[in-house]
Amino acid sequence: MDRPLDRPLGLLAELTHRCPLHCPYCSNPVALVGRRAELPLGHWRRVLDEARELGVLQVHFSGGEPLLRRDLAELVAHAHGLGLYTNLITGGQALSERRLDRLVAAGLDHVQLSVQDAEAAAADAVAGRPAHGRKLAAAARVRAAGLPLTLNAVLHRATIGHTAALIDLAERLGADRLELANAQFYGWALLNRRALLPTRAQLARAEAVVAAARRRLAGRPEISYVPADYHGEWPKPCMHGWGSRQLTVAPDGDVLPCPAAGRIPGLGIVNVRDAPLAEIWFRSPAFNRFRGTSWMREPCRGCPRREIDHGGCRCQAFELTGDAAATDPVCRLSPHHALVTGAVRDAEHAPLHIVRRTP
Ligand code: SF4
Ligand code: FES
Repeated sequence: MDRPLDRPLGLLAELTHRCPLHCPYCSNPVALVGRRAELPLGHWRRVLDEARELGVLQVHFSGGEPLLRRDLAELVAHAHGLGLYTNLITGGQALSERRLDRLVAAGLDHVQLSVQDAEAAAADAVAGRPAHGRKLAAAARVRAAGLPLTLNAVLHRATIGHTAALIDLAERLGADRLELANAQFYGWALLNRRALLPTRAQLARAEAVVAAARRRLAGRPEISYVPADYHGEWPKPCMHGWGSRQLTVAPDGDVLPCPAAGRIPGLGIVNVRDAPLAEIWFRSPAFNRFRGTSWMREPCRGCPRREIDHGGCRCQAFELTGDAAATDPVCRLSPHHALVTGAVRDAEHAPLHIVRRTP
């Protein structure tokens, strides 16, 4: 039986898809929302009001690059005034001292800063432009302002060998937390999957490095490691279950159960311009489509792990099989599991050729 419906704890506010960087592992959609379609400040304020009423405790301002919204400080102030914990997820390019001062005054609680690699030349090659120097300066400003700092690095074939150097960098920058996340294959990243997938040998080495660093550092910084999805036997419990803890508002106001769900056709996605957030959360077809377990087919329906991993990721099932209700092919019980093992095998000797977004 499905459990009674919870309220969301977190709101991912994707303020814009615009971004100065060109990372090959970008999980935003291939077709981005343009600037003119972005929700204006007044609508975002209403989204924050309704999210708080709904029970949301944390708001993650994300993108694209949220600093490209000139009204970011107003949004942070509004969220702070509602008692929400505010997190800025940024690439740090426009985080000048003045900008950070305004955000701190507005009540910003936390910064999550991405780095593309540990050394400038390699990092800038991933970002597609000189970016690393500004990121280091941004990290120093965040620490000087007394804000907690999480450093985030996406691991893939070209960078996973630098895991130890990334840990050193997080230590040097005084980060409170380091998130090492293996690339996930949604949106633009799926186009580059062959070049991004790490080898099993690379993963084994990186995991040993992380384990040793955790012993040495004893939580300073705390290291969070997101394993490589495709190399496991069981899928990740994506979003802790569809429509259970978090909601995403896309730059154009579409309300999504997860950032990638906009790709699934026929979900019945509702826009914040058309209905209150509570109505969308509790009653919209998109949020109810994969809640609980009653939508599952075999092998998930009769599986003892169905409450643990919720059948895996709906978006991944859709991207790989064309059917969002299929068992996530990462699962070794999925009839489509060979799609994942084949992709890993195929990538072992594939060239590092990547496709970049054009500005
Ligand atoms: Fe999870 Fe479904 Fe695989 Fe069971 S069959 S482990 S519920 S994905
Ligand atoms: Fe959408 Fe996993 S990314 S359910």
